[in-house]
Amino acid sequence: MANLVRAKISALGTYVPPRLLTNEDLEKMVETNSQWIMERTGIKQRHIVDKGVGTSHLATEAAKKALAERGMSGSEIEAIFLGTVTPDMSFPATACLVQNNLGAKGAWGYDISAACSGFVYALQTGVKFVESGAHKRVLVIGADVMSSIIDYTDRATCVIFGDGAGAVIVEPATDENYFMDFVHEVDGSGGCFLNMPGGGSLHPASHETVDKKMHFVHQDGQQVFKYAVRKMAEASERVLERNGFKGTDVDLFVPHQANKRIIMSAADRLGMKEDKIIINIDMFGNTTAGTIPLALDSARQQGRLKKGDLVLIASVGAGFTVGAALLRWAC
Ligand code: UT7
Repeated sequence: MANLVRAKISALGTYVPPRLLTNEDLEKMVETNSQWIMERTGIKQRHIVDKGVGTSHLATEAAKKALAERGMSGSEIEAIFLGTVTPDMSFPATACLVQNNLGAKGAWGYDISAACSGFVYALQTGVKFVESGAHKRVLVIGADVMSSIIDYTDRATCVIFGDGAGAVIVEPATDENYFMDFVHEVDGSGGCFLNMPGGGSLHPASHETVDKKMHFVHQDGQQVFKYAVRKMAEASERVLERNGFKGTDVDLFVPHQANKRIIMSAADRLGMKEDKIIINIDMFGNTTAGTIPLALDSARQQGRLKKGDLVLIASVGAGFTVGAALLRWAC
């Protein structure tokens, strides 16, 4: 029997910390130049937290904005799913800290670790809980403080990442504007190309792990680049094809913002024109789980996201993790 309940996004909120780290600032910190960063990544600036600010703060601020937009209080939320690889601490989950900050007394929830696909994975989870009838008001958050795990002497990684968060409320759909489908993949053989090896059970924090810089992001940029272009396009094609659409039918392509060249190559494979793609990496850098809600918000602010639009979301992240979602925008 067909599933009668469909799910929609009913509100969106985002938050980035006020402090800017520009390409020119980075020129003073490592051997790089603004032109290289712009040409190779598309990034001009990123937002960075001040000391003492963790992911739960960014997540809470984004969630408060989404709740205010919907005219809802935290106590009406039933579940919180939060994608992050930079939780405030190993445990408790950042979702628990956010639950407390929001006064969401009736909500349960947990963190989802899928790196740059964290928001799409959390979204799939939230949507399924609504479609199953288990919940009616779910908060889905993507939030990361990447600056907490970046080596600001490593020019290959420190120019890419920024801090930021976004939150959406997922509720039962009331018309034809709802989530149609998701595609997810994991390829654990790619774990060696992008990771932070220190601080887990395998390499607990010690003087040695600190000396070996194991608490920072380690990346083989070219391997990640090639995989991201191929998989972002493949996952998008799969979710489009199995729902009877082509790339040219999409009103707005909302890709994970890792590198402008990755986005343009993937879009090219999908036959998409630039005016259908949202790119805001110049403003925020790669905020990991935060990029997709931040991109949706940029699209909305630019007047490029209307009710009924066919929206394609795609992400690739450390793991490797892959995600794509197809929906009609509902708010
Ligand atoms: O969400 C997933 C997270 N990660 C990604 O998506 C990353 C995907 N990969 C990338 O975005 C790119 O591979 C990077 C932006 C990381 C690097 O760009 P690239 O075009 O692949 O550069 P490369 O690693 O091939 O390096 C080219 C040159 C090297 O110099 P030589 O050996 O040719 O003399 C690097 O040392 O550029 C040099 N380089 C830099 N130069 C100035 C690397 N980083 C920098 C830098 N400034 N920041």
